[in-house]
Amino acid sequence: MAEASFYFPEHFLWGTATAGHQVEGNDTNSDWWQFEQEPGHIHEGHRAGNAADWWNGRRWQEDFDRAAADGQNTHRLSVEWSRIEPTPGRWDDDALDHYREMVRGLKARGLEPMVTLHHFANPQWLMERAMWETGEAVPLFERYTRKVVAALGPDVRLWCTVNEPNSYMFLGWVSGLFPAEKKNIGLALQVAGNLLRAHVAAYRAIHSLQPQALVGLPIHFRPIEPASGWALDRWVAQTQFDLGVTLLPHAIRTGRLRRLVGSTAVPEAKGTLDYFGLNYYTADIARFDLTLPGELFGRRTFPAGAELDDIKANASYPPGLGWSLRWVHDHFPKLPIYITENGFGDAADRMRPAYLISHLRELLRYVNFNWDIRGYYHWTLVDNFEWERGWTQRFGLYALDTQTQARTPRGSAGLYAEICRSRSISSDLVARYAPGLSAVLFPDK
Ligand code: BGC
Repeated sequence: MAEASFYFPEHFLWGTATAGHQVEGNDTNSDWWQFEQEPGHIHEGHRAGNAADWWNGRRWQEDFDRAAADGQNTHRLSVEWSRIEPTPGRWDDDALDHYREMVRGLKARGLEPMVTLHHFANPQWLMERAMWETGEAVPLFERYTRKVVAALGPDVRLWCTVNEPNSYMFLGWVSGLFPAEKKNIGLALQVAGNLLRAHVAAYRAIHSLQPQALVGLPIHFRPIEPASGWALDRWVAQTQFDLGVTLLPHAIRTGRLRRLVGSTAVPEAKGTLDYFGLNYYTADIARFDLTLPGELFGRRTFPAGAELDDIKANASYPPGLGWSLRWVHDHFPKLPIYITENGFGDAADRMRPAYLISHLRELLRYVNFNWDIRGYYHWTLVDNFEWERGWTQRFGLYALDTQTQARTPRGSAGLYAEICRSRSISSDLVARYAPGLSAVLFPDK
């Protein structure tokens, strides 16, 4: 095996990503808090409970210490609308102060904050009135955005408006696994239109308050290959990709929002991205299946031979990251790219080291083409509440004991720290953490 290293550029941002509801705990005004109380919604009846206790126990302090000690220089977190505006038009200044302390806490530790305004959870009052369906949420989201930017703007330059609008509309309105628990593709596309309008309103509001801000819209990017060359397999893969993955980026690029048939003009959306936020976990193979109208007639499987995570929800498939990067670069050649999420649910940390190394190696290929790729956020720092999967999926570099709140580093915490500190992947590192990759990444001359 050759002795060698792959280097990342000097100013590359290294971080982890989190979301308010998944780590804070006890956000009783959130639609998710209510959803978790009703039986049947969450695997094994789990609840977020105290989560990683970032709110009442302020354990973000010790976790930000960990991130800083591990060589990270950025962190992506989200603020919870339900805390900031617990009832319509009533603002909780203490909550805003707490978030201000958090972003300042990041900066004091040398971590650049990236702040998401909406990450899946909503105030209960908003969901009770179905405001993402009616569109009433749009001006309210703009008003909320202005509040947050006025409070945090002096300390934050990097913003995400709505996290993964594509998976959010799918989980809430197609599979029905999230609140609003609907299975209606027409309604889902209506919600997607409103999420796009909310993004556009927030984009303009942020820029009116903070002209230098960089505003993005992280997309759950999932390459979907047809299972065969058969026309219906190809149709199903393309339709799922067009409606389920690139719906909003396409609207922002072209000013046209696709519908089930045809498209609507949304000229105001054009150009409302300062960077492309790419969340990549896995890739899919799609096969036409007449019995699955609710899933747009597609049966999904994973690429052959790829290793699967603990609950078989994601496959480790690094070429899918490269494919996604090429799509973004082809369609948005001028935009900087941040990998706003990437990770693997692996409680025993058996596969994560190889997942992490091989995805970063894939990323580096494109960094080396001098594409403007500025940072990588691993999902996630400490085990968190994984939505309808509860605590059954463990994505943390640090394992969390939810009873005691004790954190224990997994092997990957040390691995990622070495990568962040050295900005590189060396043959020695690979030999220690993922020896199976050595011959592939560092072949002899
Ligand atoms: C979401 C996160 C989630 C992660 C892992 C992403 O799609 O943005 O909130 O925890 O996937 O499941």
